[in-house]
Amino acid sequence: MTTQKFPKESLTILTNIVLPNETNALGNLFGGELLARMDRACAIAAARHSESSVVTASVNHVSFDIAIPLASIVVIEAKVSRAFTSSMEVYVDVWIDNPINKTKLKATEAIYTFVAVDANNKPKAVPAIFPETELEQKRFEGALRRKQLSLILSNRMKPEDATELKKIFN
Ligand SMILES: CC(C)(COP(=O)(O)OP(=O)(O)OC[C@H]1O[C@@H](n2cnc3c(N)ncnc32)[C@H](O)[C@@H]1OP(=O)(O)O)[C@@H](O)C(=O)NCCC(=O)NCCS
Repeated sequence: MTTQKFPKESLTILTNIVLPNETNALGNLFGGELLARMDRACAIAAARHSESSVVTASVNHVSFDIAIPLASIVVIEAKVSRAFTSSMEVYVDVWIDNPINKTKLKATEAIYTFVAVDANNKPKAVPAIFPETELEQKRFEGALRRKQLSLILSNRMKPEDATELKKIFN
């Protein structure tokens, strides 16, 4: 297994169009459909980073900022922002791409956590990651706080043990 990798090596871009059977009553992309598409993109990014099978451990901070109308071209970009021991934070940005107006509008972002698993579905170690760009660095630095918050929300960590998270209140 490779031991050190860069976020760009996990970059996964899914481009698709919104069809009528994927919309809600208002004619916009159904939220559950977008979650599934994001999950797929993030799973591929996590598998590319870990060179392993992966499972979704948590989904946090899904921010549906603007609706995505029928027939939109949707571009989903997922990249591993930080690798821990067996888990990886994957940041996903969703854009509406309009080739006619030549615009790219940010519609949604979300943060997924994936865990690399072995043949017995047990967590296994993943390569370290080294952020390169300013945005990658920013996301890398915030990832431990977000991991601790996610662990608290899932009753896997006591709030008093969340040292990194507590720093933002001090
Ligand atoms: C996720 C899963 C592999 C964790 O297994 P586990 O035996 O509890 O293992 P651990 O407690 O050692 O956790 C493994 C890693 O996941 C992280 N993790 C687990 N739950 C997490 C959560 N809710 N948020 C963030 N990280 C989480 C742990 O912090 C640990 O990270 P690290 O090794 O990088 O420090 C296990 O719960 C599982 O298989 N869940 C089902 C996954 C699935 O089916 N997903 C698809 C849903 S349809």
